[in-house]
Amino acid sequence: MKQRQIHLKIEQAIVLRNEQIAHGIWRMSLVAPDVASAYVGPGQFISLLTDDSWDHLVRRPMSIAKINEDEVDIIYKIFGDVTDHFTKKCPGDSMNILGPLGNVFTDYNSEFAEPILIGGGVGLAPILNLYDACEKAVMIIGARSADEHFLNHKPDNSVYLTTDDGTAGIEGNVLTALKNMKLSENTILFACGPEPMLIAIQNYAVEKNARAQLSVESYMGCGVGLCQGC
Ligand SMILES: Cc1cc2nc3c(=O)[nH]c(=O)nc-3n(C[C@H](O)[C@H](O)[C@H](O)COP(=O)(O)OP(=O)(O)OC[C@H]3O[C@@H](n4cnc5c(N)ncnc54)[C@H](O)[C@@H]3O)c2cc1C
Ligand code: FES
Repeated sequence: MKQRQIHLKIEQAIVLRNEQIAHGIWRMSLVAPDVASAYVGPGQFISLLTDDSWDHLVRRPMSIAKINEDEVDIIYKIFGDVTDHFTKKCPGDSMNILGPLGNVFTDYNSEFAEPILIGGGVGLAPILNLYDACEKAVMIIGARSADEHFLNHKPDNSVYLTTDDGTAGIEGNVLTALKNMKLSENTILFACGPEPMLIAIQNYAVEKNARAQLSVESYMGCGVGLCQGC
């Protein structure tokens, strides 16, 4: 991933939509013209304050799932108190957001590149954003069960779903699907998801001598280098 100059914005974003799209997974669209105009590319994230109460003092990082003019979309999974609080937000409510933060994926549209995008768990948001930006790509999205998926398994369109319990797509995890794919010298793996998944993909990339860009979503605080939390 490529490091970039920071053009950070902070603004009071307005909730446009906030809907459950799969079991425990929600999509929120925010009107945030300043952050949207500073967006550089897939891989970046924003940091949100759900309200200004003492109960929710720390911002929560969420990857950008889509930018559409002045709208910023996130896809989030209910993990704890703050993400549960996110689900209570209604159109017209506001949230303070900081961003765009982080580095961007690179080379996905370079000549001869054959990108394979892999998303698991909460790592699916930046991968979907990257998929939209790719001229061509294969995408693998993993979940435990069919009810956590909101896309369809469409191998003809190069979209592969996996489930641990076999209730949708390929039974197994994203590595099961990846290992059935032919890699070439032009393959680049792009992945975001839980740490064990990223380690497995890293090992596979090393074994196959394939290039890879991995986006790590470790637990963090401020997101801007102030709190020493990462
Ligand atoms: C750069 C970045 C991008 C992210 N993008 C997304 C996204 O697009 N969608 C999404 O749903 N989530 C994303 N996350 C994770 C998200 O920030 C956390 O799930 C959220 O902060 C949890 O807040 P909470 O108050 O609901 O849960 P908390 O009460 O803070 O946590 C609940 C439990 O989950 C654990 N936990 C929380 N966050 C993480 C984490 N990142 N890694 C491992 N364990 C964790 C805690 O230790 C605790 O046990 C991202 C994280 C980072 C760092
Ligand atoms: S999250 Fe605060 S310093 Fe990295």
